[in-house]
Amino acid sequence: MTQQQNETRQLEGKTALVTGGGNGIGAGICRVLAERGASVAVSDISLERAQTIADEITSAGGTAIAIAIDVTDVASLDAGVSRVIDEFGQLDICVPNAGVVGSQGFSSRNDFTDGDWDATNAVNVRGLVNTAEAVLPHMRERGYGKIVNIASQGGRAPRGPDVILGRQIIPYLVSKAAAIQWTHVLAQDVGKHSINVNCICPGTVWTDIWEAVGENRSMFEPELGATSREVFDAAVETRHPLKVDQTPEDIGYAVAYFASDQASEITGQALNVNAGSVLS
Ligand SMILES: NC(=O)c1ccc[n+]([C@@H]2O[C@H](COP(=O)([O-])OP(=O)(O)OC[C@H]3O[C@@H](n4cnc5c(N)ncnc54)[C@H](O)[C@@H]3O)[C@@H](O)[C@H]2O)c1
Repeated sequence: MTQQQNETRQLEGKTALVTGGGNGIGAGICRVLAERGASVAVSDISLERAQTIADEITSAGGTAIAIAIDVTDVASLDAGVSRVIDEFGQLDICVPNAGVVGSQGFSSRNDFTDGDWDATNAVNVRGLVNTAEAVLPHMRERGYGKIVNIASQGGRAPRGPDVILGRQIIPYLVSKAAAIQWTHVLAQDVGKHSINVNCICPGTVWTDIWEAVGENRSMFEPELGATSREVFDAAVETRHPLKVDQTPEDIGYAVAYFASDQASEITGQALNVNAGSVLS
């Protein structure tokens, strides 16, 4: 086997749990981890979505199971983690990815609501904490684990006046800053157990979340674009030095690296995977 082939199977023999894996970025992460040799538990609040991605991976020759997990529900997380360990014997990698941009009706509002604060906190912050708490007893016992949180470039410093996002997205941005800080403090807490904790800050990826953001901006700032997709394309054009769309798999490649033993000396870090659109 050449060095290159070896690297493409860098997760051979490992097992992974991905939350929110049934769509968008989470699905891309599941595909990449499976391609790199991991057995993947695709979990999502929607079992149907999770099953679709698990079936796709299995049809392509990978190993995957589908599990219904709501990251706001500790009992569903505990049951899901037990199922992964029963099926695969161990859990090496956990990717808390599930996220929401706001509460019901987000796209049609030009300001945030209490519901937006509650939903983003419950899923994007407490959801990450709940997920880590569910996998950590097993990881601590084994003295091994890789946790790769999905935050956002929006959790970095606020951007300048060219930013096309409105006031309604503020709770989301705050929740993503919390996700980055959670990564820092958890890494310090569990490092002594040889558990690495890092996070990825994606940029602008065409998924259901971005479609909702684009619909919102198109409604309230129509000069940005007549459709959600036009707003998205304009954002890529104006914000990305690389001028290319990012794919869910682009995020997956970075997750695979953090999840691999090649990154065993890296912990507590937040990595932008954003085509250069935010540089800090
Ligand atoms: N799309 C982007 O440009 C972008 C940028 C930065 C960060 N992110 C982050 O990437 C992650 C994935 O987002 P996406 O863009 O793929 O969105 P998406 O809406 O396509 O996927 C989110 C998935 O999470 C699931 N989910 C929602 N609530 C859940 C819950 N309580 N428990 C379990 N699963 C739940 C949904 O069913 C869905 O399958 C999120 O954390 C998001 O904040 C996305």
